[in-house]
Amino acid sequence: MEIKKKIYPDSGVELKEFTAKNYDAIMNLATLGFYKGFIKKAIHHMNIQPGDQILDLGCGTGSNAKLMYRYLNEKGHITGLDISEHMERQFRYNFKYNKRTEFIKQRIDVPFNLQKCYDKVFISFVIHGFPHEIRSIVIQNAHNHLKTGGKFFILDFAEFDMDNMPALHRFIFKKIECKYAFDFIKRNWKELLNKIGFHSFTEHFYVKNYIRLLSAQKNGSQFK
Ligand SMILES: C[S@@+](CC[C@H](N)C(=O)[O-])C[C@H]1O[C@@H](n2cnc3c(N)ncnc32)[C@H](O)[C@@H]1O
Repeated sequence: MEIKKKIYPDSGVELKEFTAKNYDAIMNLATLGFYKGFIKKAIHHMNIQPGDQILDLGCGTGSNAKLMYRYLNEKGHITGLDISEHMERQFRYNFKYNKRTEFIKQRIDVPFNLQKCYDKVFISFVIHGFPHEIRSIVIQNAHNHLKTGGKFFILDFAEFDMDNMPALHRFIFKKIECKYAFDFIKRNWKELLNKIGFHSFTEHFYVKNYIRLLSAQKNGSQFK
């Protein structure tokens, strides 16, 4: 059964049943097809190596994992974590002929330990939907599951001022996004990531600079 009660009542990333079941189609329709386009570009910008071990936090249907998978060889592997049973079903369907992926039903907003370290941790359009104090738990989970020198990729809204947006863009953003997203865009993400042990940031921007792929490298010692 899908979780009926939201963990965070104001969150826009805990999806209703209909949205979860039709997520990819809704996103393509709502964005007139450009969603997949910039995700493809962002995944290209991740510089995925053939043998990479990748962790996808809040993986959804696995559509992003499918794009990442194209870069991998027989040593590469993707682990997707999500809480939604509808997403799980679609992820498993998307990879039904493929052994080098796994889906784990796991909350990412609480500390967890997968007993494995990854080369890359990816999170796409999930972290903006949590209350700010919870986001550091998600980032710490990413940090704990990266190899030293591994990279954390956040594909999400960039930092921008809603007051400086053209009126139509502001109207759409306010209409479709949850209140946590309005807070997310105001934060200094490099500073926050740096406090948790990340450095060497790179950025790529998409969709009139409203969307950013922020990558950060892990400092310090191996997984404890
Ligand atoms: C907006 S969708 C994005 C899905 C995917 N990352 C993408 O870019 O297509 C948000 C996803 O986060 C998942 N999610 C929400 N809260 C979560 C939590 N606490 N732990 C794990 N996954 C969560 C949802 O089930 C949903 O699949």
